[in-house]
Amino acid sequence: MRMVDIITKKRDGGILTREEISFFVNGYVENKIPDYQISALMMAILFKGMNKEEIVNLTDIMEHSGDTMDLSKIKGIKVDKHSTGGVGDKTSIALGPMVAACGAKLAKMSGRGLGHTGGTLDKLESIPGMKVFIDEEQFFKQVNDIGIAIVGQTSKLVPADKKMYALRDVTGTVESLPLIASSIMSKKLASGSDCILLDVKFGNGAFMKTFEDAKKLALTMCEIGNALNRDTRAVLTDMSQPLGLAIGNALEVKEAIDTLNGHGPKDFEELCLQSGAIMLEQAKIVKNEEEGRQKLIEVIHNGKALEKLCEMVKYQGGDESYILHPEKFELAKHIIPIISNKDGYIKQIVALKIGESSMKLGGGRETFEDVIDMAAGIVLNKKVGDKVNVGDILCYAHTNKENIDDILNEIHEAFEIVDEVVSKPNSIHLYVK
Ligand code: URA
Repeated sequence: MRMVDIITKKRDGGILTREEISFFVNGYVENKIPDYQISALMMAILFKGMNKEEIVNLTDIMEHSGDTMDLSKIKGIKVDKHSTGGVGDKTSIALGPMVAACGAKLAKMSGRGLGHTGGTLDKLESIPGMKVFIDEEQFFKQVNDIGIAIVGQTSKLVPADKKMYALRDVTGTVESLPLIASSIMSKKLASGSDCILLDVKFGNGAFMKTFEDAKKLALTMCEIGNALNRDTRAVLTDMSQPLGLAIGNALEVKEAIDTLNGHGPKDFEELCLQSGAIMLEQAKIVKNEEEGRQKLIEVIHNGKALEKLCEMVKYQGGDESYILHPEKFELAKHIIPIISNKDGYIKQIVALKIGESSMKLGGGRETFEDVIDMAAGIVLNKKVGDKVNVGDILCYAHTNKENIDDILNEIHEAFEIVDEVVSKPNSIHLYVK
């Protein structure tokens, strides 16, 4: 087999066989095929696409290009959830304990934040003592004992994606639906859970800018997962404003705790309830989503969900007194209100700008070497659909930095205020299975 023949076949709109896909994926991982030939193929895929069988084969071969997690040591049906990345997305920290308190098993591997989106691992590390890297045996034991662990990845999962994604990033080939879907799904499948719920975000703060593109991605990823024998479903959620009110590491953990105490922001609580109900159905703990929702409301009201977060934090070496007394989290030196200079209704809170501003306040990293200020971030006081008057507080900037007028102006510009009444968006726009 010759790589140049595979490239020209795809360039001319041909359909690649499993053997051809395996040849280029494994050849690339083993350094037998140079970057320039893979770049040419990625560009051909971007223009000509792939059919369902090709995408499933590509994902399956990428998944098995390195280690895969064998979760069979964990008893019961394992559920996982994955978000394509949003601003203020602290879902795993609230939803994980909620579903685990209802009996689901969540063996979750999460990542760090970069740029305008935060990462679950960084958020968890704002809890003093919390360890997010534990060995595999310990990970299995924790999920068997208490039903939940959220950790960083230790095994070498999907080396093919690491190489291919880095190359796509510098060759203008990131925006290809088959390549995005196989990249995300190969990593999720390699993490080993039986069921996957995907939260595909759309809007200016998200990877997919339009609802239509997000829907196509969600449908493709569900097709891949289901073809490879995992119950895969997806929800589509709007990222034209941040999720909930808090953006920034410790601030988001506190909001997750509020939610587990029954006092979370409505949009965030609703996303957790709807997603959790689907996950409980996938785990066969409930017969339908309505029953799932009732169970989740119950574990919030009886305190079992909060208890579960405490158990997880304690198991991973963290100080659980911060969960019971969130006022212990240190606040930033400056908490600066951003004031509206207009009357009207909030039409949009540009999530991308809010995410970037939070990063600049100290709450995120521009490069992987940057150190995060756990206390920094933004807390919204208004959401899309709210009425505002001149002088109202739109949000608060939390920071330990000085001379930040430029950043405060950027935050202000993220709020689009119009004269007409704006309705509040739904938490979930579409459910795909
Ligand atoms: N996220 C991924 O993991 N892969 C992509 O290709 C795009 C977003």
